[in-house]
Amino acid sequence: MVHVIATDETDAWKSEALTALGGGACVAIPTETVYGLAADATNGIAIARIFEMKGRPRFNPLICHVADIAMAQGIGEMNATAMRLAGRFWPGPLTLVVPVRPDSKISELVTAGLSTIGLRCPGGSSRRLIAAFGRPLAAPSANRSGRISPTTAAHVAQEFAGTDLVILDAGPCEVGIESTILKVEDDRLVLLRPGAITAQEIEAASGLAVESATGGAIQAPGMMASHYAPDASVVLNATRCPPGAGLLAFGDGRGRWRDDAAIMRNLSAGGDLREAAANLYRMLKEIDAARPALIAVEPIPGAGLGAAINDRLNRAAAPREPA
Ligand code: TXA
Ligand code: MG
Repeated sequence: MVHVIATDETDAWKSEALTALGGGACVAIPTETVYGLAADATNGIAIARIFEMKGRPRFNPLICHVADIAMAQGIGEMNATAMRLAGRFWPGPLTLVVPVRPDSKISELVTAGLSTIGLRCPGGSSRRLIAAFGRPLAAPSANRSGRISPTTAAHVAQEFAGTDLVILDAGPCEVGIESTILKVEDDRLVLLRPGAITAQEIEAASGLAVESATGGAIQAPGMMASHYAPDASVVLNATRCPPGAGLLAFGDGRGRWRDDAAIMRNLSAGGDLREAAANLYRMLKEIDAARPALIAVEPIPGAGLGAAINDRLNRAAAPREPA
C-alpha cells in the first residue's frame, strides 16, 4: 500500500523515509518543480527499482539530487561556471549536467553509462532529507514513463496505487514543471530542457551565451518527442474549441469561444505565466479525467517561463510513440 506522510515539524516523516531509503526502497519526494521517485544513488539495486516502478527505458539517465554544493563536488566536476550557477540558483529548479567524477560512487544505472551527470539541489524538506541521509538521491519525476509529471502527493498515490511506497507530502509544487537542464562544458552552456530558470537568467549570472539544444538530436536522452502525454490528443494554439472537447485556457478569454468546451480549466485568468506553470499538469490531468477525445489549448506567450510551458505542451501534443 502507498503510505502518504506529511513533512511536518515532527521528524516522524524523516525517520520513516530514511529507513526506507537505507533499505534500498524508493521514496516519493516533494520538490519545488514536481514530485520525484527517489532512491539511494549509490545503490544499484535501489536504482533498478526506480526503473522498474516507472517502466522507464533503461537508457534514460536520472538526475542526482544533492543537499549542497559540497555534495555535488564529490560527484561531478564542478568548474568555475558550474560553481557560479549553483551558487546563484541552488537550492532551486536548475539541473547542471557536468562530467561525472571517476571516484563518485554513483551507480552506473544513474548515468546510463554516460560520462556526464545531472546534478540538482532541491529546496525544502527534500533537501533536509538528503542532508540527513548523507548521500545523493537519484530521482526522476514520480510518474509512470511517458505520463504527466505529478505536482501533488495525491497524483503520486494515483500513479503508484497498489504498490508499497512511502510518499512524502509537502503540498502542491510551487513551480509545477520540471527543472531547467543546462549542460556545462568548458566554456559552453547548452540548454537541454527549458524550465523556470530561463536562458536569460543563466546568461546574466554566467556572462556566457546559452545555446539551445531543444529540437535537435537527443542530447538529453529523455527528451523524447512524445512525453508528458495525457490520454486525449492535444491541439495547440486553439482559438476555438470543437464542441465536446476539453479546453485548457489562458488569459481572460476576450474574443474567444469557450462555451463549447465539455470541460474547461484556465491556467491563469490574469495571464500570469508562473501561475500557469504551477497549474499546468494538474489541470491537464483534471481535463483528461473527464475523458474528452481532444484537449484544445489556447495560445500561451513564449517569453520567459512561457518557453518551458510551450516545450511541455509541444511534447503533450506530439504524435505518440508506439507503446
Ligand atoms: O525537476 C526535475 O528535474 C524533476 C525533479 C524530480 O527533480 N526530475 C525530472 O527527472 O524531471 P526526469 O528523470 O523525469 O528527467 C530528467 C531528464 C531526462 O530527460 C534525462 O534524460 C536528463 O534529465 N538527463 C539526466 N542526466 C543527464 C545527462 N547526464 N545528460 C543529459 N541529460 C540528462
Ligand atoms: Mg519525467
